Amino acid sequence: MPGVVQHTLDSIRAEATRAVEAGIGGLVLFGVPEPDDKDAAGSAGYADDGILNRALAAVRAEVGDDLVIVADTCLDEFTDHGHCGVLADDGSVANDPTVELYVRQAVTQAEAGAHFVSPSGMMDGQVAAIRSGLDLAGHNDTGILAYSAKYASAFFGPFREAVGSSLVGDRRAYQQDPANRREGRLEASLDELEGADILMVKPAGPYLDVLADVAAWSRIPVAAYQVSGEYAMIAAAAERGWIDRQAALLESTTAIVRAGADIVLTYAALELAGWLR
Ligand code: PBG
Repeated sequence: MPGVVQHTLDSIRAEATRAVEAGIGGLVLFGVPEPDDKDAAGSAGYADDGILNRALAAVRAEVGDDLVIVADTCLDEFTDHGHCGVLADDGSVANDPTVELYVRQAVTQAEAGAHFVSPSGMMDGQVAAIRSGLDLAGHNDTGILAYSAKYASAFFGPFREAVGSSLVGDRRAYQQDPANRREGRLEASLDELEGADILMVKPAGPYLDVLADVAAWSRIPVAAYQVSGEYAMIAAAAERGWIDRQAALLESTTAIVRAGADIVLTYAALELAGWLR
């Protein structure tokens, strides 16, 4: 992805400081382990000294509460098969054992310094389980940004490449059917009742109808994720001189806000913050 890099523990601290200075509200951290650290259970994702937990601690030490620090809560970067959870004997992703690992991961992330955890694996019941797991561990104040309506999208392609995903196949057994609008509302309302603090729709641009649906009735803030493919299309066309990068990024994120997003997660955040100032 043009303009997108994997950070080191040092460079992410500097990036977080830049985000604070730009007036950005928050930062979502994803972990990219050494390939040798991947295993079938994604254990590097919930090890106290795993790369994501170390990065959360480093960023928290650097910026404190000046930025909302959000941890990606999922196993896909850490599993050697690339799925978002652990596999059953038949090769399918096992929902409940995966949720138990998410709870473990969320608690280690709160302990490392995350203000929010953000379950992105689309397992059933993940928000309720994480909420009670955090509370039992004394992390009542750690929030949950729930990936609520997350569709099985072709627009995740550049992200998977950027994080060195091991996935073969797709995630259609746990992410949503792009043709199904109503299910987006159902998934989001379940997350609200399970104790989410923010609901998120993803991708954003191709799912503005779902976003508008969720924003229309949600009693809690709604976020939308302008994903890697949405960003990459604009970046690639701009590189070729086919589109005006600044105008297209401003318009696409304005449309996401118009549809009802209170919060926009985007790879162009630093650039946009500069332009908007
Ligand atoms: C998986 C995850 C994905 C993204 C964020 N979290 C990829 C996937 O579901 O395959 C994609 C984000 C993007 O495309 O920018 N936990």
